[in-house]
Amino acid sequence: MSIVIKDLHKSFGEKQILQGFALDVQDGETLAILGHSGSGKSVTLKHIVGLLEPDQGEVWVDGQAVTELKTEELYELRRRVGYVFQMAALFDSMSVAENVGLGLRRISGMTEDAIQSRVAECLDLVDLSGFQDRRPSELSGGQRKRVGLARAIATKPGYVLYDEPTTGLDPVTKAVIDGLITKMQKELGVTGVVVTHDMQSAYRVSDRIAMLYEGKTRFLGTPKEIQATRDPVVRAFIEGRPELLQEEATGAKEES
Ligand SMILES: Nc1ncnc2c1ncn2[C@@H]1O[C@H](COP(=O)(O)OP(=O)(O)OP(=O)(O)O)[C@@H](O)[C@H]1O
Ligand SMILES: [Mg+2]
Repeated sequence: MSIVIKDLHKSFGEKQILQGFALDVQDGETLAILGHSGSGKSVTLKHIVGLLEPDQGEVWVDGQAVTELKTEELYELRRRVGYVFQMAALFDSMSVAENVGLGLRRISGMTEDAIQSRVAECLDLVDLSGFQDRRPSELSGGQRKRVGLARAIATKPGYVLYDEPTTGLDPVTKAVIDGLITKMQKELGVTGVVVTHDMQSAYRVSDRIAMLYEGKTRFLGTPKEIQATRDPVVRAFIEGRPELLQEEATGAKEES
């Protein structure tokens, strides 16, 4: 069980977003993807579940080439890959319980009682017990995010893709979500990909961290290794010091 991305290229119009991005997520690990806003992190996750098609390159999940899958097989893949969307992507016309139960209803043979009890369990996990009958419009941003997370893990997927699961949450809720990501990995053996800007979360939850920069992998290593790197592009990002990028640009000019 693993996710392999090879030489991924993706453009939108004239804009080249991914330009040979590669990544190998190992079985059972949690890997964080860092990168500036607009660098293509969400685009990368969408390729993993076949929501976007590459211009060039390959995406493999569980030994299957995602681009080769037929519609039915793609749906089947998406049942095994939970996806926490960046903007929660809840259906406003449905209650919280209906949103969380969406994937469960597609599993044939599950009774209504079993669905309700799994929904309650998942809401419990994200600290939203008793929120079943609320509408998404009645929730705060952070609560919506947590409902999105509950929905992604409801079917007990072997893989979970988390797109900025802690952005906009308070420090305590952040720690709860980080704890949940770790629990998914340690107790359920989930292979996880976490897109985040939050370095504290990245260090807390991930075995390895990749940085996507100008369409390619700029860095790949453990949290310890990234903290020790001297690459100014990576340092600028993890320390929030854009001036380091300018130094790199000036340095490059002087050399040429
Ligand atoms: N469906 C699409 N059609 C056209 N352009 C798109 C589409 N999806 C993404 N893009 C563009 O691709 C680029 C990368 O988008 P992406 O959502 O992957 O960024 P990101 O790294 O997730 O950024 P953020 O941290 O802000 O979420 C952006 O310039 C975006 O406008
Ligand atoms: Mg994004």
